[in-house]
Amino acid sequence: MKVDLNQARAALLNGEVVGIPTETVYGLGGWIKSPQGIQKIFSTKERPFFDPLIVHVDTINKAQELTTQWTKIHEVLAQACWPGPLTLIAKKAPHIDSYITSGLDSVGIRIPNHPLTLKLLSEIPGGVAAPSANKFKKTSPTSFEHVEDEFSGEVKVLDGGPSDIGIESTVAGVEDGKVLIYRPGFYTAGKLKEILGQQGLNVEVSYAESPVAPGQLKHHYMPKIPLIIITPQMKWEDVQAKIESQFNKKFISPALWIQPTNPLAASRELYQSMRSFVDLGHDIILCVRNDEFQEEDWKGIWNRLDKAKTLSLI
Ligand code: TXA
Ligand code: MG
Repeated sequence: MKVDLNQARAALLNGEVVGIPTETVYGLGGWIKSPQGIQKIFSTKERPFFDPLIVHVDTINKAQELTTQWTKIHEVLAQACWPGPLTLIAKKAPHIDSYITSGLDSVGIRIPNHPLTLKLLSEIPGGVAAPSANKFKKTSPTSFEHVEDEFSGEVKVLDGGPSDIGIESTVAGVEDGKVLIYRPGFYTAGKLKEILGQQGLNVEVSYAESPVAPGQLKHHYMPKIPLIIITPQMKWEDVQAKIESQFNKKFISPALWIQPTNPLAASRELYQSMRSFVDLGHDIILCVRNDEFQEEDWKGIWNRLDKAKTLSLI
């Protein structure tokens, strides 16, 4: 149900969860100083406790209070990318509830770039933990309506319009003086390296091969109907028999999904499109993997699609 800023603040301070808009996806927020609020995030999402939450704040000072390890690398990346779609991992301060970090000794922190949520965060001491506002493993929400739909209107939500970036933040940590990306997103390794280089930091930036981040599961973001990855050459007639025998089921209304050529447009529309195929009554999605879409800017998008897929025919 829709709430205004005052109601959202009161609910958070009262240990309730609130849907909050960000530029990436909508979050399901709980106050970090309320154990009840944190528990409610997990129960509302049906999320297992091994998946750590990101803490959202509105200033770099507040971010520093959440950690005992704020390196030059953290500072440079925070100054350049915040508010924005980057989550920084750092050693956690002792006062942070270990449910937030799933018992890890590190915490994920970010300043989201949305005026309503920044205002809200400025009025909440400490910060707000928020995973994406969807049921565990399901498609992330990029609008007020998606969150309403996901929780059948039972969760309080601040309406901030559609999310601009459309996929979750890049998650990056610092290990042995090097930057490791645990979840790809808008900020690529190339871009982070460039930002650090501009400040005289010649630092290696790479993608974590086997992510230490719990919560980086094989399946995630899944739409309510099967999503199949195909090549541009494949036609429904060519693959129908194979798919139907694999699923032991007939499909009558396939949707052909071709990504926009611009990665920013593709990420903005990604989850919205995934949901709209279901709303339009399709029973299967054929997602075309085009060779032109393999540059680094596409990494975050294919990471989500690979986890959302039921099957790849490539
Ligand atoms: O864009 C976003 O990051 C959105 C908005 C709401 O801010 N939030 C989001 O949260 O995507 P969530 O819970 O869906 O994903 C958080 C992921 C975890 O699954 C985990 O992979 C990583 O962030 N993470 C969080 N804390 C971590 C930590 N201490 N170490 C490593 N990875 C961590
Ligand atoms: Mg999520």
